[in-house]
Amino acid sequence: MEVTRRAIKSYVLRQGRLTRGQQQALDRLWPVYGIDFKPGLLDLDTRFKRSAAVILEIGFGNGDSLMRQAVSTPQNNYLGIEVHRPGVGHLLRLAGDAAISNLRVINHDAIEVLQQQIPDHSLDCVQLFFPDPWHKKRHHKRRIVNQEFIQLVYLKLKPGGLFHLATDWEDYAEHMLEQMEHTQGFTNTASKGNYAENTDRPPTKFEHRGRRLGHGVWDLVYRRSA
Ligand SMILES: C[S@@+](CC[C@H](N)C(=O)[O-])C[C@H]1O[C@@H](n2cnc3c(N)ncnc32)[C@H](O)[C@@H]1O
Repeated sequence: MEVTRRAIKSYVLRQGRLTRGQQQALDRLWPVYGIDFKPGLLDLDTRFKRSAAVILEIGFGNGDSLMRQAVSTPQNNYLGIEVHRPGVGHLLRLAGDAAISNLRVINHDAIEVLQQQIPDHSLDCVQLFFPDPWHKKRHHKRRIVNQEFIQLVYLKLKPGGLFHLATDWEDYAEHMLEQMEHTQGFTNTASKGNYAENTDRPPTKFEHRGRRLGHGVWDLVYRRSA
């Protein structure tokens, strides 16, 4: 009998209900902003209808922060990946209302998207803001930040590109720092062993929630070697 092994995922798909507005946004705006998941490399210039720096955000949640970036920095192309469909609907609605053209969205597991759709050395920046902390020790294997993931990000970044991580969970921040410091080919922009200060990242929904609960916030910004 053939046994298929299920890879450990960094998320559990909550079957949250779509609001009417989110469903309408998905119906109307997916053809404008959506990129379907299917194996095969994307031509990013064609998808954005122009050539510009590409910023990839993994797990954008409801997309409030990604939206603010896309509006405030129209010279960049923003590609968001999120598995949670209501969040995708929320972001599409905001994007449609603002009629922006520098945003594209993929509704799928970011690991598979990176592996199968994103060309090597094509990204100027990868952003991972407040990934699920999986705080119980027995769940740590679900954390998206591990050596395999970091190597994948390295491969997809252009030489000199940035990898920006943030978390409100101290133990995860320490894990990120340790993993990144031990990876060849990345330089800590805040100097070895330090967290980044004063990044101009807009706050996210999850971050607001963490601050209300009294959590700290740790940012890490690494540059891929040339
Ligand atoms: C804790 S939330 C943070 C959301 C947002 N970045 C924020 O700060 O508000 C983590 C998000 O990552 C998404 N996620 C987790 N693993 C993912 C994966 N492999 N691919 C795409 N999205 C993922 C989850 O669905 C969730 O929305």
